[in-house]
Order: sequence, then structure tokens, then C-alpha cells
Amino acid sequence: MSLPATYRALVCREYGQPLALETRPTPNAVPGSAVIKVLSALVDPSEKHRLLMAKRNVHFSQQPPFIPGNCAVGRVAAVANDAATLQVGQLVLLEGFIRGRDDPNAQALRAVYEGPSPSAKRLTHQDDLWRDGYWAEYTRAPLETCWPLDEKALIGGLGYKMSDIPYLAKHAIAYGAFRSIDLKAGETIVIGPATGNHSGAAVQVASAMGARTIAVGRNLNALRRLAESIPRVETVALTGNTGEDFKLLSQFGPIDAFMDYTPAGLETPPYLKAFALSLKPYGRGVLTGFPHGDLSLPYALMIAKNITIRGSFMYQPEDVRGLIKLAERGLLKLGKSSGAEVTDGFTLDQHDEAIGKAHEHQVWGTQVNFEFKE
Ligand SMILES: NC(=O)c1ccc[n+]([C@@H]2O[C@H](COP(=O)([O-])OP(=O)(O)OC[C@H]3O[C@@H](n4cnc5c(N)ncnc54)[C@H](OP(=O)(O)O)[C@@H]3O)[C@@H](O)[C@H]2O)c1
Repeated sequence: MSLPATYRALVCREYGQPLALETRPTPNAVPGSAVIKVLSALVDPSEKHRLLMAKRNVHFSQQPPFIPGNCAVGRVAAVANDAATLQVGQLVLLEGFIRGRDDPNAQALRAVYEGPSPSAKRLTHQDDLWRDGYWAEYTRAPLETCWPLDEKALIGGLGYKMSDIPYLAKHAIAYGAFRSIDLKAGETIVIGPATGNHSGAAVQVASAMGARTIAVGRNLNALRRLAESIPRVETVALTGNTGEDFKLLSQFGPIDAFMDYTPAGLETPPYLKAFALSLKPYGRGVLTGFPHGDLSLPYALMIAKNITIRGSFMYQPEDVRGLIKLAERGLLKLGKSSGAEVTDGFTLDQHDEAIGKAHEHQVWGTQVNFEFKE
């Protein structure tokens, strides 16, 4: 596969300003990297607000200029000499989580978050190496973030389209969180809220892992859709009153685990106490959202019931490998077969339309993608 001299990409030059469509010199595969021909890239529902309507979030953002987009699928177009197995032509999942090779605790998200520390910021600031995302015809990616896919199984066997695949990068976050609390097949997990872009993906993953999921939320239509599309899903519309919510959750018997996926717009999870109360002795909880406030939990009860609660940011490399196997074996469904509606075919020139379309449905079940010719 020969590389063109230039490629086109959308660029965020300043938050709150229109994106620029730019032509740039195609990168080469420096040691430790591959150059990927992007085939399909996800447009997050939150991008319109994050990129075009809001000021820069000083706590959680990437320094412009950068190419947005952090979930994609593509084909290896060039690969550095130090790659052990990656081959030109191979189909790969691209996700945006970058870790320092010399310090895995230095962490940043391509196109989204420059990280909290000077060492994390170095990963995306230095030479602009890993700052850019995937709304582009080509991208350079560290070898360890190019995840080989079984194309025969996914496209040939299961009949998925390229645009069904990028959402796996959302599933990976949930899979990492569930593995961090050792969720097992047959267990019962409460997920709340369950109807968001990331949290709905978590309901899919919990079910694919064989758990029974109690999907919790306010949007009755979205809850119904989750239950109709995904096996082993029960739904609960919470009231916001801890006692009432505890009663509603108790109808399912002892709860093994919970996942809290509270969005950044809330100060604190209104249902967390009910989740914690409903846990069985030695139950586990995982916090994966980003509310900006503090938590309040019944201290003595947490001790008396030996409850474990932990946070989970992104995932470990083995989580991504394991998750891809769940999809390749058909346990985790993608695209239409998962109950989602995938609107693809947007070109970079149609970015306003694509971003607007994604913004229309801030709820699980709608995926919008840019498509690129092979
Ligand atoms: N841990 C990690 O590594 C990681 C990675 C990626 C993202 N995140 C974080 O995960 C969080 C959730 O992401 P998302 O994409 O799922 O968010 P989202 O698509 O914006 O969904 C938000 C969810 O919260 C619900 N909600 C909003 N206000 C509520 C309220 N007052 N009471 C009850 N429910 C309410 C919404 O339900 P309604 O439909 O009822 O409004 C919806 O289900 C974000 O904060 C994101 O930053 C964490």
C-alpha cells in the first residue's frame, strides 16, 4: 500500500469555532508506530457541544489545534520496522488511550484529554505526536493502540459493516471497569444511568459477559429499547428517593455489583446510596462516570457488609484484547444486530451534518460515522 503525499483532516483550531478542513503531509511510520488508512470514524453525540458550542474545559480537554475523533477502524498502510506482528493491509481498531511507554501511569486521550500531569501532557504536546484523533483520511498511531481484528469473522462471518466497529472503543471502557471488579457470568449488576452513550454500551458488555443487568434511568423509551435489544436486561425507572429506589432494586434479590456512570453535568450521583444499599455482603461497585462533586455513602454499612468500591479510568491492554474476542465470537453484538441505528456515509466535507446528526440523539442506540473510501 503506497502512502499519498498528503491527506485531508478536520481540525479544531479553537474551541467554540467552526472546524477547519485541512490538507496535511501524510505522516510516516516512525519507530513504534503504524500509519493507518482510516475507514470509519465515530462521531460522538457530545462533540457538537464540546467542540463547537462550548469554551475549552480547563480540567478535561486537549490543547488545540488537534484533529477530533477517538474511535475508528482502519487498515495498516505503513508500519515501523520494530513492529513484531502488525502487517500492512491488516484491519485494526483504533482507540484513543495513550500511555507513556516509560511510565504507564502517564495517561492521555488523543483528541480529548491532555492528561493531568506534566508527564501525561508530554505525550500529546511534544512534537504534537499523539494529540490528533481520527477524523482524517490517515493517522499515525502507536503500535500498541492498533488492535488487530479478525476481518473474516467480523465482516465475513458476522456480516458487520466497517461503521459498526469503532463503537468497540466505547465498549472497551465498560469491559475494563467490569474486569476491575471481577464481574462474572450469572451475576446481577445494576448499571445507572444506563441510557447514555457510554453507559448503554456498558449494558451491552455486561450482557455479553453473561451477567444479568438491571438498567436504571429516567428515559423510559430508552430503557425499553435496551431491554428489547439486549438479553438478560431488566429495567428500573428510579424515583430519586433513596428508600423508594432501594425498594425497587430489592425486587431483584441480592445485587452482586453496581456500575455508576454518572455524567459530568451532575454534581453527585442521586442514586448511588440506593445502589450501595442494595449490594449483597462482599458486593462490589465501580465508579466510571465524571460527576464533579463528592460522594456520600453509609459508612457503617459499607464496613459491616465488606463492600468494595473502586474507580475505573479507561482500561488495560488485555481488556481491549478480551473485548475484541467477545465481538469476534459473536457474543457482543455490534451495529444493527445490537439494536443500534448506525448512520454512516458522511464525508469530511459533510462534517456539520454529521456532527449535527450525532447531537440530535444524546442517548444509547444511535451511532454516526464518517466513512472513507478504501
Ligand atoms: N471512566 C472512564 O474511563 C470514562 C470514559 C469515557 C466517559 N466517561 C464518563 O462517563 C460519563 C457518562 O458518559 P455517557 O456518554 O454515557 O453520558 P451521556 O451520553 O451524556 O449520558 C448521560 C446519562 O445520564 C443520565 N442523566 C443525566 N442527568 C440525569 C439526572 N439528573 N438523573 C439521572 N440520570 C441523569 C441520562 O439519562 P436521561 O436520558 O434520563 O437524561 C443519560 O443516561 C461521562 O461523564 C463521561 O465523561 C468515563
